[in-house]
Amino acid sequence: APRVLSGIQPTADSFHLGNLLGALRQWVALQDDHEAFYCVVDLHAITVEQDPAVLRRRTLVSAAQLLALGVDPERSALFVQSHVPEHAQLGWVMQCLTGFGEASRMTQFKDKSTREGAGPTSVGLFTYPVLQAADILLYQAARVPVGEDQRQHLELTRDLATRFNSRYGPTFTMPEPYIPQGTAKVLDLQSPDKKMSKSLPDAGCINLLDDARATAKKIRSAVTDTGREVVADPVGKPGVTNLLTIHSAFSGQSVAELEQHFAGSGYGDLKKEVAAVVTEALAPVQARTAELLADTAELERVLAAGAARARGVAAPTLATVYERVGFLPPL
Ligand code: TYM
Repeated sequence: APRVLSGIQPTADSFHLGNLLGALRQWVALQDDHEAFYCVVDLHAITVEQDPAVLRRRTLVSAAQLLALGVDPERSALFVQSHVPEHAQLGWVMQCLTGFGEASRMTQFKDKSTREGAGPTSVGLFTYPVLQAADILLYQAARVPVGEDQRQHLELTRDLATRFNSRYGPTFTMPEPYIPQGTAKVLDLQSPDKKMSKSLPDAGCINLLDDARATAKKIRSAVTDTGREVVADPVGKPGVTNLLTIHSAFSGQSVAELEQHFAGSGYGDLKKEVAAVVTEALAPVQARTAELLADTAELERVLAAGAARARGVAAPTLATVYERVGFLPPL
């Protein structure tokens, strides 16, 4: 089966609706016909300062959420990035293949390093996309399920794969981004001109682990647009369009069907229904996450097994790379 790899940062107490609809749902679906490798990317997390105890806890909570959402550890390798040292090792080789100007063009770095209150910027934040390329290439992944904001990082990954292959001989599979239609960029509820993100104020971000009341309140307070008709119009009505998209993602009804359904009703009705479909979908995920976190020893066993499986693929790839670039093998 073709391989798939993706990763998510353990940098918040909960994943959010953008993570779920932009990426995690596709993680779950792709397991059916791919050999999947999914990692909690703690190496990426420390590109900005983290409290050690909080990071450790969030790594476990992240793994629990992924399992609760349907990542199946029988079929897929679910692991913590730092448990597989080959990521950092291939990351170094990839850094030596990346142009400084090429890395400087990454828009996410420019956004993150210039964001208000960002503090001093680390070199790790700068080379972050290069480590991401190593994550993907180590597993010879054919597909990488991500949201729209990762498209440029995937382009860099492909460029680095091409460069390595032409310099040292065919080594890496060329990965394709796997970006969903419709939900590739879920918008913030308070600032529907921006993607939903944990770095914006919490009121605009639906956390998967928020209780139903908090979620309903955030949706009720979502910024809508002038006018009163519930119709999709990404340019003129981004807020309403975002709510319709979210509704559609959970209810399975198309946006066109929803426009018909809401003909003659107002934004209040739309928000009520969005809150209902979202909270109904999240309730079982929250219950399952809590169950899994009640036995962290078992959770850690699942992650250890995932890391062992991941290393089984990552180690031979790294060995080939070390040999091709001319490292003397240790006796
Ligand atoms: P991260 O942790 O920021 O986000 C995890 C995934 O969620 C997607 N996403 C969104 N999709 C739609 N709408 C949104 N508002 C939204 N916000 C986030 C992201 O696109 C991502 O797919 N660099 C990655 C982590 C990473 C990775 C990798 C991904 C490290 N190594 C290898 C793929 C392959 C990141 O920061 O994701």
